[in-house]
Formats: sequence, C-alpha cells, structure tokens
Amino acid sequence: MKSSSIKRRLVTVVLITQLLLTIGVVTTAVVLTKRQLRNAFDAGLHGRAMSVAALVRYSEEEKPTLVFDREMVPPPLDRRHPDLYRILDQNGKVLATSDNWPANFDPGPQGNRNNWNVKLQGQMYRAVRLNDVPVLDQEPAGTANSDATLTVFYAASTEELSESAWRAGILICLASVTMLAIATMAVFWGIKRGLSPLAILASRAADVSPANWELRAPPEALQTPELAPLTRAMNTMLANLQQAFTSQRAFLADAAHELKTPVAIVKSTIQSLLQRPRSAEEYRDGIDAALEDIERLEKLVHSMLRLARAEQWASGSLRRDLEEIDLTSTCELSVAHLRPLAEARKLKLDLQRDGSPRLHADAEDLELVWGNLLENAIQYSPAGSSVQMTVVGVDAGAEVSVKDNGQGIPAAEIPFIFDRFRRADTSRARNTGGYGLGLAISKAIVEAYGGTIRVESEVGIGTTMTVRLPANLN
Ligand SMILES: Nc1ncnc2c1ncn2[C@@H]1O[C@H](COP(=O)(O)OP(=O)(O)OP(=O)(O)O)[C@@H](O)[C@H]1O
Ligand SMILES: [Mg+2]
Repeated sequence: MKSSSIKRRLVTVVLITQLLLTIGVVTTAVVLTKRQLRNAFDAGLHGRAMSVAALVRYSEEEKPTLVFDREMVPPPLDRRHPDLYRILDQNGKVLATSDNWPANFDPGPQGNRNNWNVKLQGQMYRAVRLNDVPVLDQEPAGTANSDATLTVFYAASTEELSESAWRAGILICLASVTMLAIATMAVFWGIKRGLSPLAILASRAADVSPANWELRAPPEALQTPELAPLTRAMNTMLANLQQAFTSQRAFLADAAHELKTPVAIVKSTIQSLLQRPRSAEEYRDGIDAALEDIERLEKLVHSMLRLARAEQWASGSLRRDLEEIDLTSTCELSVAHLRPLAEARKLKLDLQRDGSPRLHADAEDLELVWGNLLENAIQYSPAGSSVQMTVVGVDAGAEVSVKDNGQGIPAAEIPFIFDRFRRADTSRARNTGGYGLGLAISKAIVEAYGGTIRVESEVGIGTTMTVRLPANLN
C-alpha cells in the first residue's frame, strides 16, 4: 500500500483538528448567542407585560372598580403578528383581553414556569405570566380593593427572535469558515516551509557519489531539531561508506600488486627456461621454482577467498547452521599442525587448557584463526624461545590466547596490524614471505562470530593475542 506523504498527513491531522475545533466553537457560540437573545427577549416581554398591567386603574365611580384603559395600549411592534395579552383580577375575573386572543387559547396555570413557548395560529409565540402584580393606580387608604393584585398573561411572536438567532448563527459560521480557510493556508505554507530543508537535504544527498563524498547539507538541516540527528547520521554513514569504499579500493590495488609479483616471477622463470635448450635437471629446477611461486599464489588466492567469505558472513549475507563443537580440540589440532614448524625453528610450543568450552562454530574457521596466530608467534620469535597457547572457559564464553617471547610489534604499528596487506615494517616480517592477510582474516572470522580479538605487545619482550568468543555465537 502506498503511504501518503508526510506533508499530506500533517495537513490532514491539522485540518481535522481545526475542523473539530471550529465545529465546537461555532456550536458553543450559536447556543450562547441564542440564549442571550432569548434572555433579552424575555426581559422585553416582562416589561411589555408590566406596561399593560399599568393600564389597569380604578374607575371614578363612588364604588371604584378595576377598569382597563384600552386606548393607552401601545401599537404592536410586529404588525403581522401583534402581541397577545389577558389580565385577570385576584378573583380570576378577566379585566382585559387583546382583540387577537385566540378563542381556544387557555394558558392555564403553567406550574412554576414564568416563560414558555407556545404555537398559536401556526406561529411560535413566547409567553409570560406575571402573578400578584399590584395595581399601579392608588386609591385612598381604607377604600375597598386598595390592595388588589393582577395576573397578567402576555405573549409575543418569536419570529424576529428566530431570525436574529439565524443571522447570528450564519455570521458566526461565515467568520469561522473564513478563519478556517486562512488557518489552512497558513498551515500549508508553514508545513511547506518547515519541510523545505528536508527537500534540499534529499537533493544534496543525491549529489553524493564515489567522486564526491561530501554531503552539503543546508544550514537549516543542522539547526532543525528533527533534522539534525538525520543529517548527522547521514554524515556518519557517508564517512563509514567512504572509508569502506577506500579500503575496498586499497584492497583491490594491494591484491593486484601482490598477485602481479608471483605471476611475473613465474612468467620470467618459464621465459628463461624457453630461451635456449636446457638439460633435464635445469628444466626440473626451473619448474620447481615456478611451482613454488604458484603455491605462494595459491595461498594468496585462498587467503583472499577466506577473507571475502568471512566478511560476507560478518555482514549477514551468508548464513550457516553450526553444530556445537569442542573448542579445546580445535586448539589441539592447530597446535599439532604447527608443531613441525615450531620444531624446525627450535621453539617450544605448549597448550594449556582450563575446562572444555563448547560453542556453536565451524571447527575449520577456528582452526584457521588459531593457525594464523600460532604461525605469527612462531615466525616472529627467535629460536629457543617459547610459544604458549591457553584456552579458558569464561562466563560469557571462552578466551583463547597465544603468547610469545618474540620481537614484539612497534606501538605505532599496533593499530594497523589487522588491516589487510598490512605488515609491520621490520626486516624479519619482510623475510617471512607473508602477505599481511593472516590477522585480517582472523579478525573478520572472530567478528563474524560476535567475538573480539585484542593484542598486547612490547618490542623485545613479546606479543599476546587474545580472542574472546561469546557463548552464543551468531
Ligand atoms: N606475534 C607477533 N609478533 C610480532 N609481530 C607480529 C606478530 N603477529 C603479527 N605481527 C605483525 O603483524 C603483521 C601482520 O600479521 P599478519 O598475520 O596479518 O600478516 P603476515 O604474517 O605478515 O602475513 P600472512 O599472515 O598473510 O602470511 C606481521 O607482518 C607482523 O609484522
Ligand atoms: Mg601471519
């Protein structure tokens, strides 16, 4: 499924949030405005009811009765739907009723409610009932009915109220939609501007090539908190890639160089054999010399293949199902294998074991590592000295070390001895005829198993190589 762009996702989230916010604000504003309009309408209704109540007065007769002065009723505000009223005295006698009071309309007692809505002749009215309204017209004290009270029903059409509420609602909606549109444009602009360093970063990343490893990240990319880690990670990744690329190139150049020499020697040996007729013995010597060089060539090709395989495996592109093996027995086999070389160089070779750690590993791989370490120890040690191999089972796996009392490695060379085709520049090292691949292969294999290899060495005292392998090998 194609996932949508970050910009679209951000805009969608912001818009949905704003839309919900707008709906909430509009609803609240409309409800509040409607309530305020109705309260104001009710207040007006109350005033109008009081003003008709004020038109009730005492007659001029000797025995005054309550009369209603219809002449003084103010003209209706809404001519299409004039107001309705009815006034009763405290005995329930109707004193006045508006002309348009519907024949079938009886407001009834209406409980405790003072204001209510009612539909009359297809039109919505809002009604008010005022109880115990005193008669404004004053009679001399002691006269009958001087403390008479009135009940007033008054109703006015709510058509205008509804129209005002509608107008207010539409205005609020329009204002909110306009604000929403402006906010949406601002969000689009802000997100586009906010993401622009990412687009620039992407286009600059596309400019990176083996000819130009520099990532010219825009300054905003390093200043933006979200982009700074990405930019730094890209720079680190490029530095690592450049290093890997350079070392691959160097490896290729070194390999070509190392292969060129024995091939040239074999070629010149055969050419000189062919220059003139030779005796059978001369031919044999020549072929023996060529064979020796071809063997060196074979060793180099084999080493390069092992290195490539170990590195491929370490990078995770080669998987193997490994059986559990006895680590000590691989050390014993390597020691047995190298003993003739040690004896030939008059060296004492010794294996010490503590426990018999078992690991999931390929015995051939480990024998290759031990072989390289022992071969170095033997090759770079003087006659009469001793080489000691130790296997120890530790908590987190096993540790194998090879210690010699040989020439040692100069401190400045130590960081580089695991590099491919790297040889410490001592006359002895040059004489051994190695390629400087042994330790690189060993390191690649050990790391492929998730282990580590470390070196301690002092010139003139000796060298100790220690390999630590975890219990659960990859
Ligand atoms: N035990 C040691 N004592 C002294 N120098 C050592 C020892 N082990 C390694 N070195 C130095 O480290 C260099 C690299 O070792 P490495 O095993 O990778 O290559 P090499 O032995 O020269 O060649 P190769 O193993 O490919 O035949 C050696 O050339 C040597 O100078
Ligand atoms: Mg070696």
